Formats: sequence, C-alpha cells, structure tokens
Amino acid sequence: MKSNSVAKTHQHAAGLARKIKKFPALILLKGELGVGKSEWVRGFIRAKLKKQNLVVTSPSYSLIQAYGSKKNPIYHCDLYRLRSVDDLESTGFWDLMIPGAIVLAEWGDMIQTSWPKNIKVIEIHIKNLGGDQREITETELSGLSD
Ligand SMILES: Nc1ncnc2c1ncn2[C@@H]1O[C@H](COP(=O)(O)OP(=O)(O)O)[C@@H](O)[C@H]1O
Ligand SMILES: [Mg+2]
Repeated sequence: MKSNSVAKTHQHAAGLARKIKKFPALILLKGELGVGKSEWVRGFIRAKLKKQNLVVTSPSYSLIQAYGSKKNPIYHCDLYRLRSVDDLESTGFWDLMIPGAIVLAEWGDMIQTSWPKNIKVIEIHIKNLGGDQREITETELSGLSD
C-alpha cells in the first residue's frame, strides 16, 4: 500500500494489529534509516493496546522495550547493532517468543537466518518514494498458516 503521512502508516500498522491471531508472532521491519519503521511500530503498539497516546520510544539503546501484559507482551527490538545469528542467541531474543507474544524487530533483515516454522513471521518493508510518500509491503515469511 501507499502511505503519504505518519497517520496513514499508523493505520496500516493498526490493520495488521487487528488481523494477527496467531502467536508468537514476529514482525520484521525492513527499510532504510528514517523511512518510518519506528512510526509503524508506534502505530501497531498503540492500536493493539488501544492506547492512542502511549509513548513508544526507539529501543536503540536498550535493545528491547516491553509493552502489554505478562501473558500478551509486545516487545519492540532494534537489531541494528547485531551482526550474526549468534548475537541473536546471546541477547535472549528467542526467549521472547512465548505463546502470547508479539515481537516487533527493526532491522530484522540484518540477520541472515531461516526463521522458525512454529513462529508466525511477517516482514514489513517500507520504501521511501520521496517526501512523505512511502510504499509499505507485507510478506509472510514463515509459520502458522491461517
Ligand atoms: N508516510 C510516512 N510514514 C512514516 N513516517 C513518515 C512518513 N512521512 C514522513 N515521515 C517521517 O519519517 C520519519 C520516520 O522516522 P522513524 O519512524 O524513526 O524511521 P526509522 O525507524 O525507519 O529509522 C519521521 O520523522 C516521520 O515523521
Ligand atoms: Mg527506528
């Protein structure tokens, strides 16, 4: 889909937030710096938790930010500084994938791995078309068919 504003990008994310019914779900955000990955995540978390003013900050320094409840947590990760699948193991990334969890990972494409079949994996690729125009593509990469 095409987005020409932050609000539209939030709407796209909210649409997926409503649609996701299989857990754990891993959503990989792909696209250049400043394209709107964090905005998409912000829209997703606000919609999922039905809290339109919730502060959703970039996890760049903390690596992982947790939202939601213990049973249905939403984790926002930034994998920018990770270089390998080994790094992913040692950060405890896979431990986040409990049955009710949603994990949103910016720079998920930094990691070359085959994503597990028992996890729903969706890739969101955002492309900058100039100005405020963005192209958002959604691809299912693995797991738990509907
Ligand atoms: N259509 C759009 N969708 C999302 N962000 C947009 C859009 N148009 C302009 N922007 C701006 O682009 C920037 C995106 O920043 P951010 O979400 O932090 O990017 P990333 O996480 O990909 O580095 C914000 O400053 C936002 O206001
Ligand atoms: Mg970001």
